[in-house]
Amino acid sequence: MNTDFAGKTAEGIIEIADTGYGFVNLHDDRGPIYLSLSLIEWYSLNTGDTVRCTWRSPKEKERYRAAVDIENINGVRPLKIHEMDVEIYEDYYLYHLGDIIIKTDDWKRKGVDSVLGIGGDRRTKAPMLMNYMMNHPEILRGKHVFEPFAGAGPYGFLALKLGAKHCDLLDVNPRAIQFMNHTATLNDFDSTTYTIVQNDIETFQPLSSYDLIFANPPFVPTPPSLTGVLHSNGGGDGCRLTRILLSRLDNLLQPEGMAFIISLQIETVSGPLLVHDIDNLGLSRPVEMMRYSDCSVDFQLFVEKIMVGQPTQRDAIVSWHDDLQERYGAELKINWYIIHVGKKGFLRPECIITSFQEERYGKAYAPKRVNPEKRVQTLVDLEIFR
Ligand SMILES: C[S@@+](CC[C@H](N)C(=O)[O-])C[C@H]1O[C@@H](n2cnc3c(N)ncnc32)[C@H](O)[C@@H]1O
Repeated sequence: MNTDFAGKTAEGIIEIADTGYGFVNLHDDRGPIYLSLSLIEWYSLNTGDTVRCTWRSPKEKERYRAAVDIENINGVRPLKIHEMDVEIYEDYYLYHLGDIIIKTDDWKRKGVDSVLGIGGDRRTKAPMLMNYMMNHPEILRGKHVFEPFAGAGPYGFLALKLGAKHCDLLDVNPRAIQFMNHTATLNDFDSTTYTIVQNDIETFQPLSSYDLIFANPPFVPTPPSLTGVLHSNGGGDGCRLTRILLSRLDNLLQPEGMAFIISLQIETVSGPLLVHDIDNLGLSRPVEMMRYSDCSVDFQLFVEKIMVGQPTQRDAIVSWHDDLQERYGAELKINWYIIHVGKKGFLRPECIITSFQEERYGKAYAPKRVNPEKRVQTLVDLEIFR
């Protein structure tokens, strides 16, 4: 254990009392550092975690020094909220992430061509993957990176900033292309280090294959009678574009290359839908599907919320739902997954399902119990049917 009082940071092991408050225990004579409920909640901290925190002296009537923010949890640095500051303009947002600026739309903008926001909440999936990249710049250095379904291009531009040699960013939406061009200019990126391409993932042909792919394909299961939004409409079962990407991976990736794909999955009693597709694809690579939360949400709840939002489409929604149940069974759920496709060359590549991996994505992103109604409403409100 090491302490560094000069810079007002300290490292120690957490102990959380029954009251919910906690302390960072340090073996010195200045006593433990108090941890507020909100820090414990925000970073999902538990007894036994090792943290490095910044601290302040006790105020009047306070007994202990208090933690101000957490810099590192069990060896992983959480993305800082100040690194995700957002400047709000009338028709766009500028996200400040460390020293990168990313231009995108307001989450609430209504329009089929809206560009997805990045999200200030550390528990949403895009910042979680960005957190992983920021903690592991060594995997990016000198690499040729691809961000298909780029939208505002958060992973591609972050990869460049963290030392990637080159990045291709692809999107079908001309508004996304415009935003990415502005982002590249705002950050003064050398124009030989990135290529922004307006094309469809189905027809795009790369000049050469990639070392790394980071993707967040449109993910919401959408009844065919609804237009939805380009950034979210994942087809009837939510997987249409993820399937296309997976089927092209052997062609897009170098043998030593890897892909990270964020995916909302309908789960059947025998697992997430894409497991079967991955088995059938015969990829010569190992695939890990990391199931984000232990608590999946009933798909029925999502269907009901869509009906409330689209009362005139009721019959079409019922028929889409009946069709899904006929194909995949009556007990459907939804959950987030990160699909990690590994390097080629394993003797018997297989698809395994794992649960949240704190050591890779950081404890601050560990799944938290959220009311299922709220989770589903977020999908319906923010992602489709605007
Ligand atoms: C879920 S958003 C992801 C945006 C960004 N990568 C992120 O994580 O914030 C999906 C993006 O895929 C794009 N898209 C939809 N269909 C596509 C297709 N057929 N080919 C390429 N991009 C597509 C949308 O325009 C949208 O920008």
